[in-house]
Amino acid sequence: MRAVNVGMVGLGTVGGSTLRILDENAAEIERRLGFPLKVRAAASLEIETRSENNGRLLTRSWQEVVEHPEVEIVAELVGGTTIAYEVIRGALDRGKPVVTANKELLGLRGAELAQYAAEKNASLNMEASVAGGIPILQVLREGISADRIEALYGILNGTSNFVLTEMETKGLPMDAIVAEAQRLGYAEANPAADVEGYDARSKLAILAAFCFGVRVPTESIFREGITRIQPVDFSYAHSLGYTIRLLGAATRGPSGLGLSVRPSLVPETAILSKVQGSYNAVWIKGAYGEDTLYYGRGAGKPTGVAVASDLMRVARDLRSGCTLRAPAFGFWKLEEVTRAGIELQSKQYFIRFLVRDRVGIIARLAASLAEKKIGIDAVLQEPSNDRDRLPFVITVEPTTQTNLAAALADIQGLDFLCELPLALPMETTLGR
Ligand code: HSE
Repeated sequence: MRAVNVGMVGLGTVGGSTLRILDENAAEIERRLGFPLKVRAAASLEIETRSENNGRLLTRSWQEVVEHPEVEIVAELVGGTTIAYEVIRGALDRGKPVVTANKELLGLRGAELAQYAAEKNASLNMEASVAGGIPILQVLREGISADRIEALYGILNGTSNFVLTEMETKGLPMDAIVAEAQRLGYAEANPAADVEGYDARSKLAILAAFCFGVRVPTESIFREGITRIQPVDFSYAHSLGYTIRLLGAATRGPSGLGLSVRPSLVPETAILSKVQGSYNAVWIKGAYGEDTLYYGRGAGKPTGVAVASDLMRVARDLRSGCTLRAPAFGFWKLEEVTRAGIELQSKQYFIRFLVRDRVGIIARLAASLAEKKIGIDAVLQEPSNDRDRLPFVITVEPTTQTNLAAALADIQGLDFLCELPLALPMETTLGR
């Protein structure tokens, strides 16, 4: 049976892995599809000389791939928001379905591209853009699409989870671990996108669309990275029965949607606390199906499986004569949501201070908290000989983000602080 022809743009970690899977696993893929899936053309700036061998064009020009008359599906795997946008638009202009792993572009302009794809009667597919090795978008679009999603909590950045768990288990400093994550191909070209939470935030914007049928501007989502976390924070968290993970949270409550990406205390009894290294996990609570959990590699070569599987699905659709079976984000129309704040969510907080020791510190901090009617739950201090940089932790009873921020604003100028207090929400309900 005639092959369906794919064009690939970008042969980095994800593109290279996709190509390898499509080539090495071609026979198994053909047995599943009933026809071959062939990479007809591929573009990469790593290719020095244009060549055509065994029915495959290798070129530096993405236009040549997109415009190639035999290419029926285009995989955009260059990343970034400039050339990638042109590649996707160029393919859709020609009515060619697109498979992409580009969370940054989708978080930024995904709704616009989805609408354009619908106008062109071509599909836009993005499984690899969120939680690389986990088919979470397929789950939301098909597997549990009859449910009404109430909450989603995810570990969505493999690099950050690798950094946090290396710090937790080996007590290593952040810089050394980030360098290792880069070497292993997990980290973005600029790893600040990982450790500052930007990458996870783009993924959360995509997940929010799939969960709730909304378009939320990525930059409006509350974001805090992991760069202030230190090994001592794990010691205190453990003594309270918690660990620390960078969590993406999307919840639907009485005051509307709440979206955030921030390092959070996760109870050691919660499944998400067990996620180690570059693995990702997504925990979803539905009104009818209750809770389900999805786990797998979040970054690097396993992401190629998501791209190749998307290509297979699109190839099947093309063969069955159906060009646009399901909407890109699982809903035909996304509602605009300008804000999905967490200011009014009430949570317990873990606040770690680093101070030059002297008499009266706790009393002073307690006064600022009491002023905002924030109750102290516990005060923890491990023995330390360094009285110039003394860490200790105060946990507080549930309060709103706004109220806590006001109390911390009152505290931040105090002369005994070596650095600003680190406040992390305690996700107590995940442990139940
Ligand atoms: N840099 C990303 C991560 C790659 O660490 O999760 C996958 O999006």
